[in-house]
Amino acid sequence: MSATPSLDGAIHNSGPSRRFCVAPMMDWTTSHYRYLARLLSRNTLLYTEMVTTGALIHGDTERFLRHDPAEYPLALQLGGSNAGELAHCAKLAEQFGFNEVNLNVGCPSDRVQNNMIGACLMGHPDKVAEGVSAMIEATSLPVTVKHRIGIDGRESWDDLCEFIEKVAAAGCRTFIVHARIAILEGLSPKENRDIPPLKYDWVYRLKETYPELEIIINGGIKTFDECHEHLERTDGVMLGREAYHNPWLLAGVDAEFFGDAAPSRSRHEALRAMYPFIESELERGVFLTHMSRHLLGLFHGVPGGRQFRRYISENAHKPGAGLEVIQTALEKVREPERSAIAEA
Ligand SMILES: Cc1cc2nc3c(=O)[nH]c(=O)nc-3n(C[C@H](O)[C@H](O)[C@H](O)COP(=O)(O)O)c2cc1C
Repeated sequence: MSATPSLDGAIHNSGPSRRFCVAPMMDWTTSHYRYLARLLSRNTLLYTEMVTTGALIHGDTERFLRHDPAEYPLALQLGGSNAGELAHCAKLAEQFGFNEVNLNVGCPSDRVQNNMIGACLMGHPDKVAEGVSAMIEATSLPVTVKHRIGIDGRESWDDLCEFIEKVAAAGCRTFIVHARIAILEGLSPKENRDIPPLKYDWVYRLKETYPELEIIINGGIKTFDECHEHLERTDGVMLGREAYHNPWLLAGVDAEFFGDAAPSRSRHEALRAMYPFIESELERGVFLTHMSRHLLGLFHGVPGGRQFRRYISENAHKPGAGLEVIQTALEKVREPERSAIAEA
């Protein structure tokens, strides 16, 4: 745990470093993906998929919050808007060992809009402020908000400032900003991640306007060069799709952004280090495909990577498929010589 000094020198936020984060992604940033990510970077802050307060309160709480301590630092993302329920779930986050609790104000799906969850809440800053305030009261964990720069009908700079100011007045110090609006009428969630144009300058302007707040930028970031550029103007970067499709990118994060050694020296080493976890999950009754689908990107862009993916895709779903499928798939990719590993 470290405190982050703000530009004006004040200590404004405790909790994990948010200099480099992997975004919350439903069905993608599962515990299995996160375990792999952690074998590649010790310092990257990982986020869970969104879990709704309703699911946590009325469903199988243990199952929704299940994670391995090896995944820390780890933030739990909540979807909800009822202050009492958010407070209850923030408490659960702390009891279960998470390092941060984050509120989703960015998801544009119809399903969640009907329940006042996600991006539609950008139109209800008072409700978000009330929820955040209740969460802060209920937990000693840092409470953060992930949001868009607007929604259709409320997309002016003043609307965004009103949102930030009300939520900051409720005690939130960290805002993770997906640098595009969400169009709630007419676009699918997938289209809402690509079609509204990215406006990074709005996020930079937020940091200039509110230097005391921690502002993390998200949306369309793919390379370390882009990250460095954003880090000149904001406090942290959050990558989603690129970190999922090309997880080996994470192997460079500790050296590049934290001056730290990477935990794995090669893709082969990282995957082998995951074997005991895969075996214990199989013993628990988890199907191999639930884990192996998150490994498909590991050899992205490397000779033999296609054969690795094909072997897993053709075999992991078979009844009784076990670790041997992963081991055989790994043999399809030539292991770099020790001397070449440093450059890989
Ligand atoms: C498959 C998928 C699922 C997502 N699920 C969530 C989610 O549960 N909560 C959330 O705040 N954002 C979710 N997002 C949005 C991402 O967190 C991120 O804001 C978005 O993908 C933009 O970042 P990127 O361009 O780096 O991917 C999801 C994105 C994808 C691709």
